[in-house]
Amino acid sequence: MPEPSQTNRVAEICQAHAGREGALLPILHAVQAEFGHVPSETLPLLAKALAVTVAEVQGVVSFYHDFRVAPAGRHVLKICRAEACQAMGAVALAEAAKARLGVDWHGTSAGGVTLEPVFCLGLCAAAPALMLNGVLAARVDVARLGEMLAEAGA
Ligand code: FES
Repeated sequence: MPEPSQTNRVAEICQAHAGREGALLPILHAVQAEFGHVPSETLPLLAKALAVTVAEVQGVVSFYHDFRVAPAGRHVLKICRAEACQAMGAVALAEAAKARLGVDWHGTSAGGVTLEPVFCLGLCAAAPALMLNGVLAARVDVARLGEMLAEAGA
């Protein structure tokens, strides 16, 4: 069961998007912006507001990599997994990040770093690219990734 304050906030978000075509995605983004993730207990509220099934809402949440189902850590590391970055070493970069952090995609390390995949950061010409705590970085190799995490205290 969601807390009353959570229920009220979700209702406000749904109302703000009422009647819009394709409202589910902007609503989910707004819910995540509000709570830092899409709490599972809000899914029935969203389903009811949009007159769809909980399974449909769950399907959208799990399909889009942008949505989190659990709170993120203190740091969020997003590594691009799209084609240009993959061709320039992003696979090795991701494997190094997983090994260093001891987590898989969507996991949060003991040090509070959440590792997330992203599919193009608009830096294809300077691949491989990543984003650490909202800051973009291009042509990142494994050594630079280690430095960045250390600088962030991660
Ligand atoms: S493919 Fe990685 S930034 Fe575009």
